Amino acid sequence: MKSDIDTLVSHWVRPEIRSLAPYHVQPASGLIKLDAMENPYTWPEGLRDAWVELLRITDVNRYPDPSAQALSERLIEAMDVPEGMRVLLGNGSDELIQMIAMSLSGPSRSVMSVDPGFVMYRMIAIFCGMRYVGVPLSPDDFSLDLPAVLQAMEEHQPAVLFLAYPNNPTANLFDERAIVEVIRAAPGLVVIDEAYAPFTDASFMPRLGEFDNLVVMRTVSKMGLAGLRLGLLAGPTAWLDEFDKVRLPYNINVLTQASADFALSHKAVFDEQTRLIRAERERLAADIALLNGVKVFPSQANFLLLRTPRGQATPWFNGLRQRGVLIKNLDGAHPLLTDCLRPTVGTPLENDALLAAMAELAAGGP
Ligand SMILES: Cc1ncc(COP(=O)(O)O)c(C=O)c1O
Repeated sequence: MKSDIDTLVSHWVRPEIRSLAPYHVQPASGLIKLDAMENPYTWPEGLRDAWVELLRITDVNRYPDPSAQALSERLIEAMDVPEGMRVLLGNGSDELIQMIAMSLSGPSRSVMSVDPGFVMYRMIAIFCGMRYVGVPLSPDDFSLDLPAVLQAMEEHQPAVLFLAYPNNPTANLFDERAIVEVIRAAPGLVVIDEAYAPFTDASFMPRLGEFDNLVVMRTVSKMGLAGLRLGLLAGPTAWLDEFDKVRLPYNINVLTQASADFALSHKAVFDEQTRLIRAERERLAADIALLNGVKVFPSQANFLLLRTPRGQATPWFNGLRQRGVLIKNLDGAHPLLTDCLRPTVGTPLENDALLAAMAELAAGGP
């Protein structure tokens, strides 16, 4: 029999929220952590000491600067935001996705993206009471199916379309000309999510201002500051001034403002780390591709999408964990991801451990 509290909860909590599972993070204790697209490198000692000195004089008894002025200016410079565009900061880019969806939600309005894509577009659409429409990518190479996207936009008239560039979890860049066609045909806003910008030379940032419906989203998470929770939306004032109205006051805390500003004033350290990750990505991809029956998809991000021999994704995922390496198992997440695994690129030593473990599994080890 249902207790009183269960009856109350199921009466009042929206059915679409009740049917969700909470965002799950795999336990990683004691494992080589290659599951979350983090930068594996910590800071050089001297930098760490200077940062701690800065935190020593950071007052936590006061609310933060509500508009994070100094940090915004630092980010505009570090991320080459074009003249005339403004920025809006979020507690991770996840919060920016939520601010956009909250501002654009309404009865029968939809959020569109491609599938397989970044799961938070779908989740946040549901949080905000919007419909989510995911247009399948081309099954062979995960490229954008332009006619399908154009047709879906015509049919569903999405308030907003999110495209991750490079895409997660497929690691590839969509064709730039196809994206431009999508932006031109979109009835509403188009968000180009450049979370993996440090690992590619391609970007829509310089094209801001060319289209009235284009904004670009970035994060500092993948360049090495995931723990700070800081994302950035860049685009025309007309859009961002509206999104700013749904931002909770003081959403970027004092420690994040001080630490990110400090870190970005030493951007060369992070640029060198991302250069190493890019080089390791090429080595790892080439070595994994030599394993029997494994396909490695092209990557412009800090992770690889792999297809194992049929039915082997889960046994290999478990086998890797037994050997001390944690990656992401994508088998079952979407029909196009059957037999797929997603390791993040780590340090050379971590990548060696991943390679050795995969070689044992590919050779038929348990
Ligand atoms: C495409 C994409 N966008 C956004 C995010 C979220 O980034 P943040 O850490 O800034 O919330 C991720 C995280 O994995 C991502 O893959």
